Amino acid sequence: MKQTAPAAERNRDVVRGRLLEIVPDTAQDLLKVSSGTGQHGAHCAPAMPQLRWWPTELDPGRLASIAAYAADTPSGNLMPPQQLDVTESNWETATEPQRADVILNINMVHIAPWAACTGLVRGAGRKLTDGGLLVLYGPFRQRHVETVASNEAFDVWLKDQDPAYGLRFVEDIAEEAARHNLSLSEILTVPANNLMVVFRSV
Ligand SMILES: C[S@@+](CC[C@H](N)C(=O)[O-])C[C@H]1O[C@@H](n2cnc3c(N)ncnc32)[C@H](O)[C@@H]1O
Repeated sequence: MKQTAPAAERNRDVVRGRLLEIVPDTAQDLLKVSSGTGQHGAHCAPAMPQLRWWPTELDPGRLASIAAYAADTPSGNLMPPQQLDVTESNWETATEPQRADVILNINMVHIAPWAACTGLVRGAGRKLTDGGLLVLYGPFRQRHVETVASNEAFDVWLKDQDPAYGLRFVEDIAEEAARHNLSLSEILTVPANNLMVVFRSV
């Protein structure tokens, strides 16, 4: 049942380390948008026993894998997966928990239409508790930073798969997020020319 994604295998230690730095001890609920195989929850939830980790995923074919990881994770704070499409209006009210202290999304916004990104920040703006964090991880562009050649090539490859895909500008996401009371808080560098971009609900 358990599926394995090489990218998740490579970045899960970094994701866990960064979350331990930025998620406050008072956080109780983390909603993971687009969990893929479920590897991140299995790796990170045991290190954060004070919070409940709520995995969600668009693709129903992935839910069994996420559930299998959850069943084998003895920490007891990894919740059963829920199906979630962030382009749905009001997705934030259809998923547990009612409010989240952290919403985490890894490697989705470049490999989905822009509507997935706008849907994510719209829902996050409604679902996060005051001061809550929306954490994005992946490859991004920044207007005043030269994009490295490997990310340029990746962008071309993505657009070849689907013209609606492509690396997103942090500034464009921040502009959209600001419409939903999310303020850009931190941009953390992580390996492989990726970024962890953190927004705070204000
Ligand atoms: C490259 S995979 C990354 C999976 C996982 N986050 C990881 O890092 O292993 C992209 C994920 O985005 C999800 N996704 C794409 N569009 C979505 C949407 N509209 N709502 C929720 N998830 C979406 C896909 O189902 C897939 O699991």
